[in-house]
Amino acid sequence: MQKTVERVDPAFRADVLNGLAEPIPAIPARWFYDRRGSELFDDITRLPSYYPTRTETALLQARASDIADRVGRGGALVEFGSGSSTKTPIVLDALRPAAYVPIDISGDYLRDSAAALAADFPQIDVIPVEADFTKPMALPDKVRGMGRVGFFPGSTIGNFVPRSATDLLRHFRTVLGTGSKLLIGMDRVKPVDRLIAAYDDPEGVTAEFNRNLLRRINRELDGDIPVEAFDHEARWNDMLGRIEMHLVANRDVAFRVEERRFRFAKGASIHTENSHKYGPRGARLLLLAGGWTPLAEWTDANEDFALILAEAQPDRFAP
Ligand code: AVJ
Repeated sequence: MQKTVERVDPAFRADVLNGLAEPIPAIPARWFYDRRGSELFDDITRLPSYYPTRTETALLQARASDIADRVGRGGALVEFGSGSSTKTPIVLDALRPAAYVPIDISGDYLRDSAAALAADFPQIDVIPVEADFTKPMALPDKVRGMGRVGFFPGSTIGNFVPRSATDLLRHFRTVLGTGSKLLIGMDRVKPVDRLIAAYDDPEGVTAEFNRNLLRRINRELDGDIPVEAFDHEARWNDMLGRIEMHLVANRDVAFRVEERRFRFAKGASIHTENSHKYGPRGARLLLLAGGWTPLAEWTDANEDFALILAEAQPDRFAP
């Protein structure tokens, strides 16, 4: 009898093997989210120093009816990377869309949360789509004739460098079509000490989240990385307006991933995440460059986080 072999995602393998061999070693942040990584991220959202999730949730709650007035009710709500979002019920409650289309790469998670939402909102047609929201895709036939609103909360856009972020926004415009709207959450620029505290919590949960990537590599790609030889670091890159997460070697270290050998000198880093922060002008410029015209914006009293509603630019955006 053949042993059950854990299926390796070829894209994960390529990103890790190529990323570790780069002159500035880096692995894309999307690979944080295995089962354990998703649990750790949920833990992060409840940390006192991690303000974005609770700020955005409170903002949605407080402004739900204003938002619904501007978005319009009864269309199709399309959520990109729905995950285990606790924000969705708030938005569904307020917008009362005819259809809800959660798009997520993790099929199990998606089907479970879609079934729960369908039970809680019997009037809404819940149509989950298992897909990578960055890749070309078509919306389900049922929502073709409906008004369409994209929902991209969590400041996930911040994980993309501006060039990729504009590509992604243009892609959303293609998927949603002309006449559609987009409700997007973006984290604001704020004092560095607060930003660092959000990404380097005293409880050490973010450090665990960061190091879990190495554990995932060891497990799924047959690696022997000594996880304790890498320290979690959160840095503010002022020129690029972003928090960066790194794994920094605390001693000279050599390891293997599959058949490949790697060496990191003490102090060398693996760059694992960017989280871009935007001021009001920067946020709007990013949307405009991505094919979306800002219509309205809501922020909390502290202006820590912004929700922006935008509409798809027509093909001919004159003059
Ligand atoms: C909510 C996925 C965008 O960048 O703030 C949290 C991920 N990384 N702590 C963010 C994250 C470290 C997060 N996203």
